[in-house]
Amino acid sequence: MTKLVRFGVSLDNGLLKQFDLLIKEKNYTCRSEALRDLIREVLIKKEWQMGKEIAGAITLIYDHHKRELVNKLTDIQHDFGNITISLQHVHLDHDNCLEIIAVKGPPREAQRLVDTLRSVKGVKHGALTMTTTGKDVD
Ligand code: NI
Repeated sequence: MTKLVRFGVSLDNGLLKQFDLLIKEKNYTCRSEALRDLIREVLIKKEWQMGKEIAGAITLIYDHHKRELVNKLTDIQHDFGNITISLQHVHLDHDNCLEIIAVKGPPREAQRLVDTLRSVKGVKHGALTMTTTGKDVD
């Protein structure tokens, strides 16, 4: 179990007011938890910049009626089989599909995968959300 350490923080009054407004807006119950999340956020972003293994989710919206689109998307995912760990397909309505692809690997590869998928004609939107694998963050 990790040891909890207390420390004091000096802040400009105006900045603290803004921080308190922000944590209220984000539903934090105390400053400490909000500060912990901010620190984790910075550490996780540093992991990405250093090229450390990330976990993430790619979301794609596309019209499955477009010719060859589904085959192309499948081919691309096979090409990136080393970082693709799971796939969920949802039929949103008569035309549109939502695909959620879970990835784990180098951030650059995850970015390359979403860029490649997004570039396929008929894909309406594609986004990558990166997070940590959790190994180096408490
Ligand atoms: Ni579908």
